[in-house]
This record gives sequence, structure tokens and C-alpha cells, in this order.
Amino acid sequence: MTSRNASPGSVPFDRVAGIYDATRGLPPETSARFGELIAHEARIGSSGRLLEIGVGTGRVARAVAPHVGSVVGVDLSRPMLEQLRRQRGALPVHVARADATRLPLPDASVDAVLVVRVFHLIPAWRRALDEVARVLRPGAALVHAESGVPVLDAVSRRASRGSGFRVARAGAGERDRSLDVAGWPLDAEPASFSFQRSLVPAAMLRLIGERAFAWTFALSNAELETALGAARQAMREHFASLDDPVELKGVCRVERRRPPDA
Ligand SMILES: C[S@@+](CC[C@H](N)C(=O)[O-])C[C@H]1O[C@@H](n2cnc3c(N)ncnc32)[C@H](O)[C@@H]1O
Repeated sequence: MTSRNASPGSVPFDRVAGIYDATRGLPPETSARFGELIAHEARIGSSGRLLEIGVGTGRVARAVAPHVGSVVGVDLSRPMLEQLRRQRGALPVHVARADATRLPLPDASVDAVLVVRVFHLIPAWRRALDEVARVLRPGAALVHAESGVPVLDAVSRRASRGSGFRVARAGAGERDRSLDVAGWPLDAEPASFSFQRSLVPAAMLRLIGERAFAWTFALSNAELETALGAARQAMREHFASLDDPVELKGVCRVERRRPPDA
């Protein structure tokens, strides 16, 4: 598959594959707990087959895999999947390069589907949801999970708003009511836990300048400068110093949702 026949406007992560885990990774014990919680909410037992769309480097899939039978991961980006292959060891994580809007799987063939930070990158996210509904076995659920550091998300939002950010409008909102609106009701109360993460704010500014985050991919140089200025300003409001490490609170959240009319 080439990026030409990917669903139009999707945002593959080829350019950041080499730094993805270092910039988005969770502390090891948090990652392990996140994987366990996702497997618990998927309710597929130790022999079930879980599909993750937009699996990337397997940052999350590798944490879930020890608790389920197997994980199948699909992603548009060959370099991201290469990273996953390199790190999966003996874990039962299989990959396919494919578009979430055209899954290479038969109807009713998986016991749960996992999505983490992907729908906002796919303009045809509703088509991807239709594909999820098609491949789920009857009674099976979509697990929509998220890990983030609210203060950093707030800085990114401030920075991206004034800069001509186009990716945010590519697909569904990450924490809005898109899945409710698309008719995928919650199947259980969302589960969550918080964690601590240490960060030097100036290091995040450098990453924004290096276009490490999806919302910077499509910016012109001038827009990137504007975004950096806004990020610096927002950080000065949040942190006493940009050069000293700060302890931040992060949240992992997991929703279990069922297909429309299921
Ligand atoms: C923000 S990363 C999330 C990766 C992983 N879920 C995680 O949480 O670490 C988004 C991933 O979705 C992939 N992606 C974007 N559009 C896609 C599409 N239409 N089909 C499949 N994967 C897609 C990107 O290549 C990237 O690897």
C-alpha cells in the first residue's frame, strides 16, 4: 500500500517513527497498568483476539498483549510498524499495513477492537467505525483508550489554536462526544487512573520546534513559529521555570463502547 491509496487526509506517522516511543512513552509501571486495564475492559480473556487500529509502534499493544490471546495491529505507516516489529520480542502481536477504513479482516473475526489516539487523524473516521463494527464478533466491544497529561494537552491546544492547525480538524475530536454522536454508546462506566510524570518544559518546546507532534506536521514555518510563541507563553503561565523538571499529573482513561444497535 502507498500513501496515495490511504484514505484521503489521514495522517501517517512515518516522520516521527524513530522518536515516537521516547516522546509519547509512559513510565513502565504506568504502561503495564494501562495494558492490564485495557485487557480487563476488553473482556476477552486470555485467549481472545484483539485488533488495534493505528497501532503505531505498539506502545500500547505491547502492554496489552501479555493479558490476551493475541493482538493484530494495523497501521498506515511502514516505519511505525518496523519499530513495533523490532520491539515485540516473543509477544503475540501481529501486524498488517492497512488503512483503518479498509480493514483486511473478515466480518465478525475479532473479539475486541482497541483505538488509542487515532480517530482525530482520520477524516473518514466514521468509515473506520463502520469497519470496526463489521469485524467485531456479535456482542464484542470497541475499547477507546487515552493517556495524556492534561496540562501539556492544554499547552498544545493553546499553541495549535493560533497557528493554523489543520490536523485537529482532520477527524473526530479526541475527547469530544464524537463516538456518542456516531451512535456508539458506552457499555460500562469509563475506567481511569492517574500517574506522575517528570518533564522539563523547555524539552517539550524543543520537540514542538522539531515537529514531533501531529498537530505541527502540516504547519508552514511561520505557523510553527507562531505556535512556539503561544506554547512558550502558555508554559510561562503554568510553570515557574521552563528549564527545571516539573512533576505532572497524567491520566489513563479507558471506555468500553458497543456498536450502534448491538
Ligand atoms: C498518535 S499515533 C497512535 C499510535 C498508538 N495507538 C499509540 O497510542 O501509541 C497514530 C497512528 O495512527 C496511524 N494512522 C493514521 N491514519 C491511519 C489510518 N487511516 N489507518 C491506519 N492507521 C492510521 C499513524 O500512522 C500512527 O501510527
